[in-house]
Amino acid sequence: MANSTKADLIVGIQWGDEGKGKIVDLLAQKYDAVARYQGGHNAGHTIVVDGTTYALHLIPSGVLNPDAINIIGNGVVVSPEALIKEMKQFGDMQGRLFVSENAHMILSFHIEMDKAKEKMRGKKAIGTTGRGIGPAYSEKIARAGFRLGELRDIEKLSDRILEYFEHNKAICDAIGLTCPTKSALLKELTTYAKSILPLLANTTKMAWDLLKDNKKVLLEGAQGTLLDIDHGTYPYVTSSSTISAGACTGLGVSPKDIGNVTGIVKAYCTRVGNGPFPTEDFGDEGDRLRKQGHEFGTTTGRPRRCGWFDAVACKFASRINGCDQLSVMKLDVLDGFDEIKVCIAYEVNGEKIDFMPLDLEDATPVYKTFKGWDKTEGARTWDELPSSAQEYIKALEVLCETKVGMVSTSPDRNDTITL
Ligand code: GDP
Ligand code: IMO
Ligand code: MG
Repeated sequence: MANSTKADLIVGIQWGDEGKGKIVDLLAQKYDAVARYQGGHNAGHTIVVDGTTYALHLIPSGVLNPDAINIIGNGVVVSPEALIKEMKQFGDMQGRLFVSENAHMILSFHIEMDKAKEKMRGKKAIGTTGRGIGPAYSEKIARAGFRLGELRDIEKLSDRILEYFEHNKAICDAIGLTCPTKSALLKELTTYAKSILPLLANTTKMAWDLLKDNKKVLLEGAQGTLLDIDHGTYPYVTSSSTISAGACTGLGVSPKDIGNVTGIVKAYCTRVGNGPFPTEDFGDEGDRLRKQGHEFGTTTGRPRRCGWFDAVACKFASRINGCDQLSVMKLDVLDGFDEIKVCIAYEVNGEKIDFMPLDLEDATPVYKTFKGWDKTEGARTWDELPSSAQEYIKALEVLCETKVGMVSTSPDRNDTITL
């Protein structure tokens, strides 16, 4: 392999919403390109700069650096409708946003199917974002999906969609999904083609060329490790490879192309949707975390489930992603707590273990309690942190077997401590 620079990677360590958007935006100021490689508009990445808030779902969080280009890789599932809507806030994106022609599309029937399947699951619902993610990835794996490059021939694409309805007639009838008319389809696809075709590119070659030219490339993960299709809390997961390895398939870079890996973790833990969450706090402290942390989903507005930092899960996630460092977010949300708990082991069937069991549902957390502190909000240097907050961070490093490279103390880009 010819000499080339390596791409750095940002990955969520918990169940998503760790604050990836803030760190990607901060780092992106010094990068030439930012690339998404999996997930879709189920993601909600928030960026706050000088009081202005941006919520991104599909567009990479490098968009606020006018000198950086943004790439949506082949592993992302793209809703043309959502992308067109999101692009509007940033003006003309041509030359600034490149989308893989091989990325699969989320069309309206994927969304209807996602919602219908959730309804059918009843009590066992996953609690998806209802964005059509599962159905779009399912069709991709079943080799029956629709790729963005197909927008080049909408006549042929519309016939394929009609054929899809025919093949899935029984399912469509069961969920009350009516087949669109060809003219309605052509109209819809024409709108998509007009906006999307100018953005299409061979993003794999693009990434290779950037690295060959020694450009700085940042890979932006969506969701989090514990939502990974293979390594997360299956079936309560999303439908993509959310771990760092997902960047290889989702953009077409090799493992050797990946350099520094930063895992993003909250100083506590949250989860949206259903599934096991051993450290969830159902009482006043969970409510307080939700309130102080404004823990309501960026994408769906749902209240997030809140609880304590899980060092066992974090150690696992750090190892599976190959994290060089962690970025601990939202430390300020713990301001004012007298005591802070951290899960340091699980009890499973009467046995104490410090690794992830096959089913997290069986795990009862074993806690260690740390002394709280008054205020960290807005701190920008290590020395500004109260000593008990410093001790907390140092303890996380030991428990997760990974050094902490950054600490975040408010939503604002600048309220970040680099160690
Ligand atoms: P992402 O999906 O990982 O990008 O995270 P989200 O944007 O969904 O959720 C993180 C939320 O926390 C956003 O509202 C951020 O603005 C906010 N946030 C990020 N870092 C901090 C921090 O250090 N302190 C506080 N209080 N909020 C933060
Ligand atoms: P970001 O990138 C938090 C969760 C959903 C649900 C499960 C499956 O902002 O961190 P899906 O719609 O993907 O089929 O839902 O995954 N989920 C997220 N939770 N942050 C996200 O993204 C999420 N994307 C999906 O709540 O439990
Ligand atoms: Mg989010």
